[in-house]
Amino acid sequence: MGNENHANSMHWVKGTVGKTIARQGHVNIPDGLYEEEHGRDGFYGPVSHLYRTHAPTNWKRIEGTLKPRAFDCNRLGVSDHDAITSRTRVLFNEDVAIHVSQPNLTEMPFFFRNADADEIYFAHRGEGTIETDFGPLAFKQGDYVVIPRGTTYRIVCEHTPYFLVIESFSRVHQPDRGLLGMHALYDPAATGVPDPQPSAFKGAQGPDGSTEWEVRVQRQGQCSSIFYGFNPLDVVGWKGNLTAWKLSIHDICPVISHRAHLAPSVHTTLQGSGFVMCSFVPRPLESEPGALKVPFFHRNIDYDEVLFYHDGDFFSRDGIDAGMITFHPQGVHHGPHPKALKKSWDSNNTWTDEIAVMVDTEKPLHMSPRAQETEWADYHLSWREDDSSDPAEDTAKTPATV
Ligand SMILES: [Fe+2]
Repeated sequence: MGNENHANSMHWVKGTVGKTIARQGHVNIPDGLYEEEHGRDGFYGPVSHLYRTHAPTNWKRIEGTLKPRAFDCNRLGVSDHDAITSRTRVLFNEDVAIHVSQPNLTEMPFFFRNADADEIYFAHRGEGTIETDFGPLAFKQGDYVVIPRGTTYRIVCEHTPYFLVIESFSRVHQPDRGLLGMHALYDPAATGVPDPQPSAFKGAQGPDGSTEWEVRVQRQGQCSSIFYGFNPLDVVGWKGNLTAWKLSIHDICPVISHRAHLAPSVHTTLQGSGFVMCSFVPRPLESEPGALKVPFFHRNIDYDEVLFYHDGDFFSRDGIDAGMITFHPQGVHHGPHPKALKKSWDSNNTWTDEIAVMVDTEKPLHMSPRAQETEWADYHLSWREDDSSDPAEDTAKTPATV
């Protein structure tokens, strides 16, 4: 620890301010140079800014499996099943699993209990109610619903929904607001918790002809069913600090500086062991002359980075649409597309209208075969400066998401 602190306290400067390095990161980058933030531990650890003569994303081609990827999960389509059975696992590791679910059956005919993981639902589309042990939580498009491991629940939707579902194999919690104060990011008062209300679910006819209620319990990835002769969501009161709760992405107050582009970690919404979730919501762009308005180049060496596109103007960009997922693995650069970078300097646009959810994981993620069926094969070539696709229309709106 002593050596680490000593190392962190050191800082070297190798270059000339204004010519080969910037005095303030992400502001007044010398003409003709590309600034890369090369850091450890996401955006928390030791870091250097490297000033390059070429964009590090301007590769000719990539051989091998390590490359940026994009999945059009809309192509998975609407399932005939309920919200649980409809889950398609997209990316996963030992800490977290990322699913999408587009159920056509809007009312689950059973209760579900995940004994493996806390769950985070993000309602990309649809509205309805999640009945839980603690009472019902109404949800609508743009809501996060956090369901602690072991909670019994059932989803009833009013319209065909599209959920992004995160399984966290550790406890999900809110981020430490630190210097920002407890009401930053989102006010705890903006969150919602359920009032106790027993479920009105009528159950189903069992093999002996009597009415029964099924609780499907997932443990170690396998489901078993427990059947009751009464509705098991029968809680009439509860107290404590463990419950299902919800938060609208529209209640998030983004942290910004008008003077310099901040790291995406300032947009952290939820976290668990080995991962963080961030929300990117509409916000003003940096207004200081010379301040970078687009994401800086980096190779996120300690985190895999997953972005789910929910809503916003940047969908005018070729190939990216709402409901898609991009995946940037550790070790491969990403940053603004070349036309986006050029256009950001002469744009009068002062606002970004993106809404997106990011999941960053410490351990490398694995892709599921189903996800790979929806892959946009040439996504990794979309940074080439000779790329024939034309993202010019979105350049001023190019999001600060990654
Ligand atoms: Fe990133």
